[in-house]
Amino acid sequence: MTSKNEQALAFALAAILLVVGVVCYAAFPPKTPEEPVRVMFKSTAGSIFFDHKTHTADTGYAIACDDCHHEGDEPVACSECHEADSDVKRSDAFHGQCKGCHEDSGAGPVKCAACHVMK
Ligand code: HEC
Ligand code: HEC
Ligand code: HEC
Ligand code: HEC
Repeated sequence: MTSKNEQALAFALAAILLVVGVVCYAAFPPKTPEEPVRVMFKSTAGSIFFDHKTHTADTGYAIACDDCHHEGDEPVACSECHEADSDVKRSDAFHGQCKGCHEDSGAGPVKCAACHVMK
């Protein structure tokens, strides 16, 4: 094989690999988390029921995504950044935001047992 043929072959292979790469990327896009309908949190004080859909829907309380998902380009779980040993730890993040908004807006449960409903 002449070096010209080798070059042509190399280009052809590169082109094929590029196409394969693009097809694979399109077939398996990076996974974005799905917006939950409801979330059930478990805690030592009993489970908390959170109706994500009703809090966000226009027909519900119509709260904007980034009012709660306050960091980052797209919504991710709070636990990505708030865990037991974080600067703002998990329970403070939830109590601060959930209870904080209910207090400020004068709507929604603020008493312990009104959120921690299920043992
Ligand atoms: C009232 C507060 C609030 C609003 C408004 C809100 N979210 Fe959430 N969202 C949460 C909470 C709390 C979780 C559960 C986080 C956890 O488990 O750490 C959550 C979880 C999520 C998750 C799941 C993340 C995962 O990895 O499981 C996605 C996606 C999401 N929300 C998208 C949205 C979108 C899109 C909107 C706007 C249409 C929105 N959220 C509005 C509070 C809210
Ligand atoms: C990408 C990381 C990240 C995610 C995801 C995230 N937070 Fe935070 N959060 C932070 C950081 C960093 C701080 C501290 C700096 C600040 O005050 O903004 C913070 C602070 C807070 C505070 C205290 C604010 C204050 O002024 O005292 C609350 C409450 C809170 N987060 C709740 C939540 C809730 C609830 C969610 C999920 C709906 C969430 N965070 C998702 C990074 C994150
Ligand atoms: C930005 C404001 C805001 C935040 C943040 C918020 N809520 Fe609410 N929540 C409301 C409003 C408004 C209502 C409606 C109260 C009414 O109409 O009586 C409500 C109602 C509720 C109710 C009772 C009715 C229902 O829909 O089940 C529960 C339980 C509740 N919220 C739990 C939570 C929890 C848990 C979190 C945190 C994960 C949270 N909320 C965060 C504004 C908020
Ligand atoms: C607006 C709803 C709401 C109210 C009101 C509320 N909590 Fe919570 N609480 C939560 C959420 C959400 C979590 C986080 C659960 C998790 O970690 O998944 C939590 C977590 C906890 C935890 C577990 C903390 C840990 O580190 O394991 C305790 C204990 C607790 N709450 C006690 C209380 C007490 C006591 C009150 C009343 C003074 C109260 N809560 C009021 C929603 C609420």
